[in-house]
Amino acid sequence: MKPTLILYASRDGQAKHIAQTVQQHLAQQALHCELADLKYPPNMAKNWQAIIVVASVRYGRHHAEVHQFFEHNTLLAPLAMMSVSLNARKGDGTPNGYLKKLLAQHHLQPFTAMSVAGRLDYPRYGWLDRQMMRLIMKMTGGPSDGKCCVEYTNWQHVSKFAGTVSRYIQQEQNPNAKPLSQFGA
Ligand SMILES: Cc1cc2nc3c(=O)[nH]c(=O)nc-3n(C[C@H](O)[C@H](O)[C@H](O)COP(=O)(O)O)c2cc1C
Repeated sequence: MKPTLILYASRDGQAKHIAQTVQQHLAQQALHCELADLKYPPNMAKNWQAIIVVASVRYGRHHAEVHQFFEHNTLLAPLAMMSVSLNARKGDGTPNGYLKKLLAQHHLQPFTAMSVAGRLDYPRYGWLDRQMMRLIMKMTGGPSDGKCCVEYTNWQHVSKFAGTVSRYIQQEQNPNAKPLSQFGA
């Protein structure tokens, strides 16, 4: 059985935590996954079953290594994409503007794509980032007390995403099985 590659791009750890959770879900389905930081991607020529990218957003953009990865690699396996941001805390998991823009920019057609909410952790941020985040939160109706820390991640959304990925992989491995109608998140 071919392994699945899970790549994450994270700064404060939440996208990494989400990627690890997806890996655990897939492991429970006996699907072997390798996890790696997108800053140090492994051999992309390896025969992967699927590639899952979990990437967070800062100042309106996914991290530079996400763009570099999609610019410099031809994906030889089906892609599943998850974007992590605070904007997504108001959504239902469907791709938000950040994710739609990333997909369009790199002409990506993942078999499933989801925007999931991240974590607000003021004490962790440097002074400037904390002030900027307080401003953004104030403007979008979130908490602006610089001491607060809130995890907005909807773990049911994460588990739904992992379920979609595992069904897709199982279908690929057993193409004679009854086809699934769609793989939307
Ligand atoms: C400096 C900074 C800038 C951010 N900019 C945005 C933003 O533009 N839009 C948004 O929705 N979330 C923004 N966020 C929220 C992050 O996407 C969220 O905290 C996420 O959980 C971070 O993921 P990470 O822990 O993997 O780095 C920002 C967070 C920080 C610290």
